[in-house]
Amino acid sequence: MEISFPQQIDTLAHAHAVLVSPAEMKDGLAGAAAALDAAGGGQLRRALASARFEGEAASVVELLAPAGTEATRLLVVGTGDPDKADAAVFEKIGGALAARLLTSGETRLSVDVSGVQAALPLAEAAAHLAHGAALRSWRFDRYRTTMKEKQKPTLVAIDVIGATGAGAWHDRLAAIAGGVARTRELVSEPANIIYPESFVERAMDLAGLGIELTVLDEDEMRTLGMGALLGVSQGSVRPARVLAMRWNGLGADAGKPVLLVGKGVTFDTGGISLKPAGGMEDMKWDMGGAGAVTGAMHALAARKARAHVVGVVGLVENMPDGNAQRPGDVVTSMDGQTIEVINTDAEGRLVLCDLLCWVQKTWSPEVIVDLATLTGAIIVSLGEEYAGLFANEDGLAAQLEAAGRSVDDKLWRMPMGPSYDKLIDSPIADMKNVGGRHAGSVTAAQFLARFIKPGVKWAHLDIAGTVWADKAGTLHDKGATGFGVRLLDRFIADNFETRG
Ligand code: BES
Ligand code: MN
Ligand code: ZN
Repeated sequence: MEISFPQQIDTLAHAHAVLVSPAEMKDGLAGAAAALDAAGGGQLRRALASARFEGEAASVVELLAPAGTEATRLLVVGTGDPDKADAAVFEKIGGALAARLLTSGETRLSVDVSGVQAALPLAEAAAHLAHGAALRSWRFDRYRTTMKEKQKPTLVAIDVIGATGAGAWHDRLAAIAGGVARTRELVSEPANIIYPESFVERAMDLAGLGIELTVLDEDEMRTLGMGALLGVSQGSVRPARVLAMRWNGLGADAGKPVLLVGKGVTFDTGGISLKPAGGMEDMKWDMGGAGAVTGAMHALAARKARAHVVGVVGLVENMPDGNAQRPGDVVTSMDGQTIEVINTDAEGRLVLCDLLCWVQKTWSPEVIVDLATLTGAIIVSLGEEYAGLFANEDGLAAQLEAAGRSVDDKLWRMPMGPSYDKLIDSPIADMKNVGGRHAGSVTAAQFLARFIKPGVKWAHLDIAGTVWADKAGTLHDKGATGFGVRLLDRFIADNFETRG
């Protein structure tokens, strides 16, 4: 989407939108809406009344070929209560407009925000409106070669007029939208296209943003002793990779980085503990954690975040095969702990545990956040609304919850504790990789916790329910949501960035 913030435009011969507040619906239209209403001989007021429009946030009324203007259509969108009209509301407004017009035949939309009352400066509001539209209009049509003309997106440009200085606000948001788009693309691609090596290949251009990339191949992982990760990978013909992405926005005395770690199972068949056929295609997005970490690194680097952050993703394919690991196999992780693999479908934790060992050894971080589509059980607990948050420290949990709330990537804190930890003791090894039928997401988190060194603040986000959406939302179409990118970007911005 081409986004601009012109001072004014010389023609309205395209789709045009104006914002209207609930107060205007009671006391009379003002500003741009009043002018359009007058020009159309009161048509606008009558249309709004028939639609029972009350100015509710992001509700839209549409008039085709409105009288008194050359606009092809006029959209009136509610701001809701101006005191509550914050960044999230303006993103929702932009999202609603984009969703309406994306395949409408319109190519250009101008949104007039002049005089709009909001809970934040108008320039910022305008930038968030455009950001919402950009996020909502992302689609993945790469493999649809026979789409009818009418199904194809038409909207290519949005002008937001009437706010000075919005461009500077928007530059930062455009960097974030770039990260979200990268994540969504990685998540949407099928597993014959995105596998460990091709994932790495696609991430190589991050170097252009100033990110330092390091890749481990299987020989290097073997030397490091990553027996748990390699055990998952051994049934696949696709060799595993670990990709580390380092962004140092602080220069010489950057200090210890914040570590972001992602599960990147590019396809999860379950291995020998094979999953049922129905819905197995969803397991192409079992790399959603790795996708989110990669997109977040993109966002941070693109907006030149003044922070030191390393993103590490573990990329493997979990396949059944003559060489696949068996239930009952015992593997040894990089820190020497032994694991009895009861179920080869509980593979994400096997990948993550070696990554957690490696990042602690390599960067001695004080803070680690991992993201993983780890358990079906978290979907049973929280559905698609919230991701599960597990943390060994309350301050870190609160920082993540707050970041999630402000960008609408919502997190719900889940419990941990020694009685859950007992459930993964094994009679023949240090631990087993599953804890029985109950509290499946918690025992998975307890497994990871066994690899965190004392004193390290660690949080684990189980994003199995939030990576992929069956229905369109306010800021995404159905399919890949990009969950986690905005959350991580905000988490870093609010807690680890020095102000310049
Ligand atoms: N990748 C799955 C979890 C998952 C399920 C993600 C549904 C997204 C949607 C994970 O590797 C897995 O298979 N977990 C098992 C664990 C079980 C064997 C203890 C599960 O949730 O069933
Ligand atoms: Mn699995
Ligand atoms: Zn999995």
